[in-house]
Amino acid sequence: MNKINIAIDGPAGAGKSTVAKAVASLLQYVYIDTGAMYRALAWVALKNNIDTQEDWSLSALLQNTNIILEPSSIGNRVFVNQEEVTDAIRSNEVTAAVSDVSAHAGVREQMVKKQQQLAEGKGAVLDGRDIGTTVLPDAELKVYLIASVEERAKRRHDEHVDKGRSSDLETIRRDIQSRDEKDASREISPLIKAEDAIEIDTTQLSAEEVASRVINLAEERIRIL
Ligand code: CDP
Ligand code: CDP
Repeated sequence: MNKINIAIDGPAGAGKSTVAKAVASLLQYVYIDTGAMYRALAWVALKNNIDTQEDWSLSALLQNTNIILEPSSIGNRVFVNQEEVTDAIRSNEVTAAVSDVSAHAGVREQMVKKQQQLAEGKGAVLDGRDIGTTVLPDAELKVYLIASVEERAKRRHDEHVDKGRSSDLETIRRDIQSRDEKDASREISPLIKAEDAIEIDTTQLSAEEVASRVINLAEERIRIL
């Protein structure tokens, strides 16, 4: 059967990775968590005391860092130079640094190239901020997920509680808002809905409802290929 590429973008906590994972699993496509790649670079930069404001040192670091996404039932397992960092890249420190790391032109250029290579064979679901606009401008299906910041903060808070991590709802809300602002206002590939993306407001929807809408859209696209 013909395969398509699916781009899922949107702000933090909108449900991108949950939906992307479900869609990829049902269609037996590859899921690529592009945010995990930026998080992996932020993790290795912090570990090596590299200034997150300096494009040239981050770009050089990225050139010498092997970031691997491995498919798994939990989404992507992430390895940096063969060390597993799947959980470590979700820490508050990495989350606080990642939007600075991802704003640099040299970093984005390398990341976008890698992501395009990963999706070359079609049959890929990528989630991120610039998939529909920059990484896969020709993706057959582009979805842009949104939800109120209060709902997105609540979802992240619930996740932290489930994982036994200490967590304060108001702090999470402020962090999400500040990260969204940085991601949306950067010069290169800011967080923005692609003109031809289908926007879904997930505030009042369950993750299953959103996934089922996206799967229907994907099946429609596959049928008309
Ligand atoms: O899961 P969450 O929405 O919190 O974030 P993520 O998808 O793991 O992405 C972490 C950060 O990476 C974002 O806040 C962006 O700064 C950056 N990112 C990006 O710039 N472009 C992408 N395609 C994906 C992520
Ligand atoms: O990738 P992104 O940051 O956009 O969101 P996520 O990591 O998928 O996290 C969203 C959290 O909210 C997960 O715990 C989901 O189970 C939950 N959720 C959702 O994803 N979509 C909804 N419509 C409702 C809840």
